[in-house]
Amino acid sequence: MHSTVIIKAPAKINLGLTVLRRRPDGYHDLSTVMQQLSLADTIMLEPRREPGYSFFCSIPALSGRSNLVCRAADLLLERAGAVLPGVKISLYKNIPAAAGLGGGSSDAAAALKGLSNYWTLGLSMAELSELAARIGSDVPYCLRGGTALAGGRGEQITPLPPLPFYWVVLALPPGLFLSTGQGYGALDPMQFRQPPLEPLLRALRERNDQLLEDWFSRGRTNTFEEAVLPVYPHLQRLKNKFLSLGLSPAMSGSGPTYFSLTESIIVAREAVCALQEGGYRAFLCWTASPERKS
Ligand code: C5P
Repeated sequence: MHSTVIIKAPAKINLGLTVLRRRPDGYHDLSTVMQQLSLADTIMLEPRREPGYSFFCSIPALSGRSNLVCRAADLLLERAGAVLPGVKISLYKNIPAAAGLGGGSSDAAAALKGLSNYWTLGLSMAELSELAARIGSDVPYCLRGGTALAGGRGEQITPLPPLPFYWVVLALPPGLFLSTGQGYGALDPMQFRQPPLEPLLRALRERNDQLLEDWFSRGRTNTFEEAVLPVYPHLQRLKNKFLSLGLSPAMSGSGPTYFSLTESIIVAREAVCALQEGGYRAFLCWTASPERKS
């Protein structure tokens, strides 16, 4: 009999993101540096008598079979082509949905890893990555986590030296949900190839804190920002709020989440309180890596 398994599905932020071009298949080639966070969803796998799986999500609106966790389970069952032991899958959400934090992609990646172990399918990382890319562009990164450069439509992953520990302040306007597709739809091709990521890559490869600070203080780290800010004026107010707190804000994914890194827990705590008092959903977390068990 299987025992219960608990798996963490961490959020990500994009330390930098450049959209390069639109492709004939409708996707976009991009170059982005992703960073794993301590903020995470939890997936629980429990044995059940009947074969197949059941799915529960703590957010009712996400509990349908279109959830990417079910897509991961279905792909594994299809690949196994056999009746596998029954499993009850429960997903407990902490990561805001449709927020640019990779929550759904990370849930899918964690389900792929967890279920392939649960069913002892013996899949290699390459095989899991291939399935992950079929689920979504960010899922292959989420399988590995840590600090990584993603290319292609997001599925080509090159690990980078781990970012040192920083506190991370995250905030987003309540009730604003932006799908990735919406974000890409709002892009102006004139903004493509901005901002070049070389200064960020140099900061990471040289592990140079000053260069990293310079990257974030330049104010432009993500192609999506120019597209999304004019459409949602309250995002400009959120950005200004970060600036008024002495923090350098950057947008994650296609938004609407803004984040800022700081070495000071006092600054981070005060910022989260001020943002929450300002009516925003705000979170205090930190940079994490698969090696640092946090
Ligand atoms: O890959 P994923 O399913 O997360 O993508 C959702 C939507 O975002 C795609 O249907 C596409 O419209 C857009 N997208 C894109 N280029 C990417 C990733 C996503 O245009 N690199």
